[in-house]
Amino acid sequence: MRDDKRMSKKGKVTVLVGAQWGDEGKGKLIDILTENVDYVARFQGGNNAGHTVVIEQDKYVLHLIPSGILHAGKICVIGNGVVIDPKALIEEIEFLKEKGIDVEHRLKISEKAHVIFPYHRKLDELREVKQKGRIGTTKKGIGPCYADKVSRVGIRVADLFDKEYFKTRLEANIAEKNVILKNLYASEGFSVEEIFNEYLKYAEYFRKYVCDTITLLNNAIREGKSVLCEGAQGTYLDVDYGTYPFVTSSNATAGGACIGAGVGPSRIDEVLGVVKAYTTRVGEGPFPTMFNDELMEKIREKGAEFGSTTGRARRCGWFDAVLVRNAVIINGIDKVIITKLDVLDELATIKVCVSYRYKGEIYTTIPGIPGFLEQCEPMYEELSGWQRDTSKIQQYNDLPVNARKYVSRLRELIDTEIMIVSVGKSRKQTLICNIK
Ligand code: GDP
Ligand code: IMO
Ligand code: MG
Repeated sequence: MRDDKRMSKKGKVTVLVGAQWGDEGKGKLIDILTENVDYVARFQGGNNAGHTVVIEQDKYVLHLIPSGILHAGKICVIGNGVVIDPKALIEEIEFLKEKGIDVEHRLKISEKAHVIFPYHRKLDELREVKQKGRIGTTKKGIGPCYADKVSRVGIRVADLFDKEYFKTRLEANIAEKNVILKNLYASEGFSVEEIFNEYLKYAEYFRKYVCDTITLLNNAIREGKSVLCEGAQGTYLDVDYGTYPFVTSSNATAGGACIGAGVGPSRIDEVLGVVKAYTTRVGEGPFPTMFNDELMEKIREKGAEFGSTTGRARRCGWFDAVLVRNAVIINGIDKVIITKLDVLDELATIKVCVSYRYKGEIYTTIPGIPGFLEQCEPMYEELSGWQRDTSKIQQYNDLPVNARKYVSRLRELIDTEIMIVSVGKSRKQTLICNIK
């Protein structure tokens, strides 16, 4: 079996995931790594994601289209595990086309991806406003759409092309949702006709992009083409491994790439994890290493920590090595990429969380005890800062010695190779280091 596989030609498959709570800088890194691959595939999430790529003076925030789209000639796939809001996707396609980017020949949309409808957005919004224990979602309808998928009532991209089948499913969905909207939330319901006609137009728009992306990707791999799978959100927003219930509704960890792109585990060669040199979180949920107000302001401003999708202020805190070490294990991360080191440039001392104390005991893993992360006390190690501008440095070895010491200590604590350190938004502010 293994020998057969070795004999057939096979392109490299890499999975890149966020190893914290999202916004680690995945977009920037995907853009950089795309240079060396043939295909880039998103495998989960939807337009709750906001992946920023800065090229010279231009800033692109991609929500559904893989961040590889900015490299001419590369094929970009929206996999079956993604949930698609057609309106948002059209806006993104049109924006890129206006910028002169060839989307038509390079974007492929899975026929099996689930579709977000207006009632998903509405239910997401109403739950946030009216139910206790809000999650702080992006209100893009992500949770309700994935819930329909798992409840087996969802509508997939291919369904939009079969008018009769689509209408039957839509009618059943709207009948059920309208009861909930009216009776539980005292909100107006939706009209089948309106949504049906609107979505038929979207289907026509998407016709040329839709295909069997699973066969496309697997054939490409067999032909020796390389694939980069682009994770959205991050490990601690994963529905299984995250800080449940304050999570998103998909598997943002590396295993999600197999399910959401249709590429089997035996095909994956390497897993890369992206982390910030500190930690951020947007939305509700526990955050043990969160800064005090003064430091929060300072780092938020220096790091421009405002959500790429919703504009909300991100909460900021120290690097949490317990979280990241566990993320390395859960994802099977081979190499870590550290971003935003430059944001720490001015600090005199820098703390790193190395364990948690909870009810008198020390933990280096995250048990499932309810309220653990809310109540635990982070145990810190303190390192000296470097207090020099790192954003113009071009070689890793030219970083101030304390910056290198910081990176080396993180490497020890998370016990994983550090591949790249990023010191700014742009492509050239990227230091390859491969610290084993
Ligand atoms: P993603 O969701 O993981 O792709 O991350 P976002 O794009 O939401 O947020 C990361 C933000 O940090 C973006 O505004 C990036 O332009 C920016 N960024 C990425 N790497 C660096 C870095 O090394 N230094 C600084 N200062 N900004 C960075
Ligand atoms: P990228 O890919 C950061 C958060 C929301 C909320 C929770 C659930 O840019 O890293 P949802 O709308 O998904 O139901 O919200 O998840 N969230 C993100 N936080 N980056 C993201 O994506 C996120 N996508 C969702 O703020 O706490
Ligand atoms: Mg983001």
